[in-house]
Amino acid sequence: MSKSVLFKRFLRNPVQVGALCPSSRGLCGAIVSQVGMENAEVIVELGPGTGAITREIVLRMPKNAKFIAIELDAALCGHLRQTFPGVTVCNGSAAGIGDILDCHALSSPDVVISGLPWANFSAKLQREILESVIEHIAPGGCFTTFAYLQGLLFPSGQRFRRLLDELFSEVETSPIIWKNLPPAFVYRCRK
Ligand SMILES: C[S@@+](CC[C@H](N)C(=O)[O-])C[C@H]1O[C@@H](n2cnc3c(N)ncnc32)[C@H](O)[C@@H]1O
Repeated sequence: MSKSVLFKRFLRNPVQVGALCPSSRGLCGAIVSQVGMENAEVIVELGPGTGAITREIVLRMPKNAKFIAIELDAALCGHLRQTFPGVTVCNGSAAGIGDILDCHALSSPDVVISGLPWANFSAKLQREILESVIEHIAPGGCFTTFAYLQGLLFPSGQRFRRLLDELFSEVETSPIIWKNLPPAFVYRCRK
């Protein structure tokens, strides 16, 4: 079900959606591990798509933590709300994370998890979103995202890596997750 939903949204807007099929369980597990989820009070997910990573977050987050997912595609927001009735799904851009947190009276997130297709974004959009994240994430908070292996061949993927190094005090990469289509790896960054 989620596979066909994401595929249809991809056909409508390939640059924004950026993936033909949802991330594998292995990749989702790697994205949500070693980010301090067990102690998090506020968690934000950017670009949840059909919710492959959302599912892992819901399984692992502390019971009393606040979790908000920010998705630009209105149809995918509808799908997410149906699939995860307990999750606050906000239809908006990740660049507006500050206003969205204010609107929901949430404090700085300890963990920000992104499924955004960074390699498809312009330099301006990459910077705009990442600067908003760094401005609002709690000190010592963790920002985590993934990149497809082949993305490193492209200038936009390399530019994204340099931007992470510029903005975060610590950037760590996971081993390659081969059991994903296409193979990918995770960036874990600390403010
Ligand atoms: C690759 S899909 C995520 C798939 C899902 N996380 C997974 O791993 O299966 C990327 C998602 O980011 C959303 N997106 C793109 N630009 C966005 C933005 N500026 N703000 C919020 N969501 C955005 C797209 O609509 C799409 O649903």
